[in-house]
Amino acid sequence: MERHDLYRPIHKALRLLMVDTLTKFGALDTRDEAALSAALEQLDTLLGVCRVHMDHENTHVHTAMEAASAGASLQAAQEHRQHRREIDDLAGDQRALRSAAASERTRLAQQIYRHLARFVADNLLHMAHEEKTHNALLWARYGDDQLRQIEAAIVADTEPTTMQSVLRWMLPALNAQERFELLAGMRQQMPETGFDQVLRLSRAVLPTPAWAALARRLAVPPEPGLVAA
Ligand SMILES: [Fe+2]
Repeated sequence: MERHDLYRPIHKALRLLMVDTLTKFGALDTRDEAALSAALEQLDTLLGVCRVHMDHENTHVHTAMEAASAGASLQAAQEHRQHRREIDDLAGDQRALRSAAASERTRLAQQIYRHLARFVADNLLHMAHEEKTHNALLWARYGDDQLRQIEAAIVADTEPTTMQSVLRWMLPALNAQERFELLAGMRQQMPETGFDQVLRLSRAVLPTPAWAALARRLAVPPEPGLVAA
């Protein structure tokens, strides 16, 4: 019987957001103003989502781990402090590029690319540690219902704008079954207007075949105004 993994969806979203942002900076033509501001905007989203995610883990997940086994979250908590310093440095890099003269932009974009590559590498290892070691403890000491309660507390503690940013990257990062289960769950818990917004976001960010498959399973029309098949 597969256990509930509270890291899986958010870590999938973070991995996609990190790798996509890194790739965008590697390929960035800094003379293209629209591409430059989109890359800076995406980096801003990444740094903001990482900050919130670490706070949520510290507050909601590490507390549960410490209650089960004192000291169990120490390594991850220490890595979070290091990541926060790296995020502050990247935010400084970002401000420098945003206000740089045209002649300095390529050098500064390459600097972000190199710093971000190290940050992503650290985070990939960190998330693997959490998924293996933290889950082993959480699964030994808590039931799936309790883990779902922790997850619900994290969702309740998330600002709508952050939730929107997370969903924008979580939706394409999940596989078809996980995506369907996420939306089916949201449909039960959200007012209809809120869920309509989630559907519009899904349609905008998913490749067409993935959106069509999701719409079919949710029995919603694939195009606005059409009737579900
Ligand atoms: Fe973490």
